[in-house]
Order: sequence, then structure tokens, then C-alpha cells
Amino acid sequence: MERKFTLRRFREEDLEQVMYINRTCLPENYSTYFFMELYINYPETFLVAEVDEKVVGYIMCRIETGFSGFGLIKRGHVISIAVLPGYRRMGIGEALLREALRAMVEYYNVKECYLEVRVSNTPAINLYKKIGFEVDRIIRGYYADGENAYLMRVKM
Ligand SMILES: CC(C)(COP(=O)(O)OP(=O)(O)OC[C@H]1O[C@@H](n2cnc3c(N)ncnc32)[C@H](O)[C@@H]1OP(=O)(O)O)[C@@H](O)C(=O)NCCC(=O)NCCS
Repeated sequence: MERKFTLRRFREEDLEQVMYINRTCLPENYSTYFFMELYINYPETFLVAEVDEKVVGYIMCRIETGFSGFGLIKRGHVISIAVLPGYRRMGIGEALLREALRAMVEYYNVKECYLEVRVSNTPAINLYKKIGFEVDRIIRGYYADGENAYLMRVKM
């Protein structure tokens, strides 16, 4: 059976459910303040996915300024993305990421986007590769349990 989902921007009343999804799906958890700070500063790139009016996935990002070979550029940084287990492989993660990338360009004139991902996280790595991200380098011991991260990057 094909299930339909819709995307929209995060709203304050989604906070509890987004934090629940984050705790359910990832070992990297954050304070209320952390989520709200990303929402207040970068509301266009904090998105949720709904199925039957229930929030089942989210993506949140930060916009950073850094040096490239040509001077200062803006970069998008995907901080966290997750979809509840019962709603995976429906295209939600891909839609969230594509829409966040589109919003980064539209609202912040971002020239590239990067993220960190556990080297063992094949589903996420495949998702990022599908969208055009490439492995830039390994960050050793990036995670609290000592696992390495790939830093992955895509140019816009
Ligand atoms: C990574 C995650 C967000 C993907 O969400 P999703 O909604 O299931 O992803 P999609 O259905 O949009 O899949 C898009 C692509 O990702 C890849 N992918 C997704 N799940 C996969 C899996 N279990 N195995 C292999 N590839 C997978 C595939 O390339 C897929 O494209 P395809 O369906 O055409 O093959 C989801 O698995 C998740 O929440 N994982 C736990 C949290 C997490 O690891 N977040 C990333 C931290 S960096």
C-alpha cells in the first residue's frame, strides 16, 4: 500500500514529537534549547514530514560562513535527520533532504552543504550519495562512542 506524506516547516508545537523521533532514531540527542535555537535562527531549513497528520520525520540544519578557495562562502550543515522506523523507505528522508537543500539555496544563497555520518550508517550514506553528496574525508573518533564519521559534501 502506498502511503502519502507531506512536508512543512517545523512549528513550536512539534518540539516534543521531534525530540521523541530524535531519541528513538539516534544516539545523538540534544536539549530543548538546541532544537529551538536552530528553529529560531534557520526556520526555513527545519522541516517535518507528516503522515495522517502525525509528524514522523524531521531535518534540521545550520547555515555557516566559512572560507573556500575564493573567499567567504555560505555552507549548509545538516545537523540531524531522522524518520520513525515504521515510515522508512517511503521516500521521506530523501524528500526532507532535497527540500532542505532547496531552501538553503533560496533563503541563504548557500553554495555547498556538508554533514557528518557514522561510517557504519549505510542507509544514511546511501541516501546522501543518491542526492549527490560525496565523501570528503574521515573524522576519526567523531562520535561519543569513538566511531569515525565521514564528512560528506555536495556543491549546489
Ligand atoms: C537515514 C534515514 C533518514 C532514511 O530515511 P528514509 O525515509 O527511510 O529514506 P528514503 O525512503 O527517502 O530513501 C532514500 C534512499 O536512501 C537509501 N536508503 C534508505 N534506507 C536504506 C536502507 N535501509 N538500506 C540501504 N539504503 C537505504 C536508498 O538509496 C534510498 O533510495 P531508494 O529507495 O531509491 O533505494 C532513516 O533510515 C533514519 O531515520 N535512520 C536513523 C537516523 C539516522 O541514521 N539519521 C542519519 C544520521 S547522519
